[in-house]
Amino acid sequence: MHGYDEESAQVGKRLVVQLAILIRTSQIHDSGNFAFDQPTEKVHNTLQALFMEESEVSLNLEGDFLFLGDTRLKVDIDGFSNLIFLIDEMRRREIGSFVFFRGIKREEIIKFCAIFSNFDSTLPHPFERYLNELKKANLTNPSIEHLEEKKEHESDQDIFKDKKELAKRTYMSTVTAVSGVMESLKLRQAVSLKRSKRVVQSMVDHILQEDSTLLGLTNLRSHDEYTYNHSVNVCILALAIGQRLGYRKMGLSELGMAALFHDLGKFDIPLEILNKPTEFTPEEWAIMKKHPIMSVKELVSLKGIHEMATKVAIGAFEHHLNYDLSGYPKLASKRKLSLVGRIVCIVDCYDALTSSRVYNRVPFPPDKALRFMLSRSGKAFDPVLMKLFVNAIGVYPIGTLALLNTKEVGVVVSSNPNPEKGDRPKIRIIMDASGNEVAEKVVDLTEEDSRGKPVYEIVNVINAAKYKIDVGKYFL
Ligand SMILES: [Fe+2]
Ligand SMILES: [Fe+2]
Repeated sequence: MHGYDEESAQVGKRLVVQLAILIRTSQIHDSGNFAFDQPTEKVHNTLQALFMEESEVSLNLEGDFLFLGDTRLKVDIDGFSNLIFLIDEMRRREIGSFVFFRGIKREEIIKFCAIFSNFDSTLPHPFERYLNELKKANLTNPSIEHLEEKKEHESDQDIFKDKKELAKRTYMSTVTAVSGVMESLKLRQAVSLKRSKRVVQSMVDHILQEDSTLLGLTNLRSHDEYTYNHSVNVCILALAIGQRLGYRKMGLSELGMAALFHDLGKFDIPLEILNKPTEFTPEEWAIMKKHPIMSVKELVSLKGIHEMATKVAIGAFEHHLNYDLSGYPKLASKRKLSLVGRIVCIVDCYDALTSSRVYNRVPFPPDKALRFMLSRSGKAFDPVLMKLFVNAIGVYPIGTLALLNTKEVGVVVSSNPNPEKGDRPKIRIIMDASGNEVAEKVVDLTEEDSRGKPVYEIVNVINAAKYKIDVGKYFL
């Protein structure tokens, strides 16, 4: 085994992402297709870069992590769905390692991926059968190794001693689950919700234990997966309200699913419209406004939805209606919105306002978004739930960038559990008074000096987007 340096680990991450893309490509196209050319070339080039150091390159699955040699690969948010995808696919075939040898040809890479994809991993002994297929095709490069059973002491909880790491993984798995559902819908494939239900349940467990880590992750913004991240953020924020409403586990799961799939109908809207940088034309608006109904249509047709279908579908249907029904779709007769609908309505709007992708304008800083929403409380939003929401995320929500009285700049990392002290969260200092970066310093705004005066106070909220500061990275 080889311990790689930081630079090679970067190349390793690239390999994982490119390999996942190639495998995904071979799940859609036959191997003669030109769609393979570019992804194969990329994988091949990346391998060449790694062969400069070693004559063989191995990707090893251990527990829930992938290693290049014995260096653990940590990927950022844009690579994470590919990492999880690859891990899942390896596990299903009981493959513990891929070993690529110097001199590997492009055709071998393509062949390998084709066998990998056209493989029914639901039958017993997947590894042995896979090995057989490789032999039949006379393919020895790369070679594969069997996945060793996880040792008992390496349970998930042990590996993720760090809560933050566990929360991050839950977040990313949920992004992958939603994207999986949406991608399958696009390809008109059968969709199962099993995985989504599982990830929502782990979200619920997190929220019930402690919610600041998950809430912090809602500040992550990925640039090409807006709808997926948005859906997961809306799910987390909805659960934060649900928890304060005293929802039980089952109820939280339903609420979480409703929030996660509220925008499901968007999968059918062309990306040119969805990501349009300028204002919509009336025709485009008409298409956009159909997505709540489209969501309902898709949701009720999904496998495994039945027990929670009503709540989930109603949540999707109502999420743009507004508390006073001034939104869309237009209703023939007046009625009261469901609780789930009213919750999703609030958190959906909050995430849309604070994220940069929606209608491509500069996003609101969290506190400004809240103030704007509070001004519409009782009209667009249920006033009681709005209050609860502010309590849940704090006057200065997690992710707020703030200038302190000490002239230091910091990011709110956890809100004060006492609503009366909502303006006194915990802040991670990222810049000292002279503008230098600060590594690890967290201050508690409830801290007082000997005369009972607060040591730290927020003087001003800074618009992170305006200064192009990526707040999300402080939560990874
Ligand atoms: Fe929506
Ligand atoms: Fe939405």
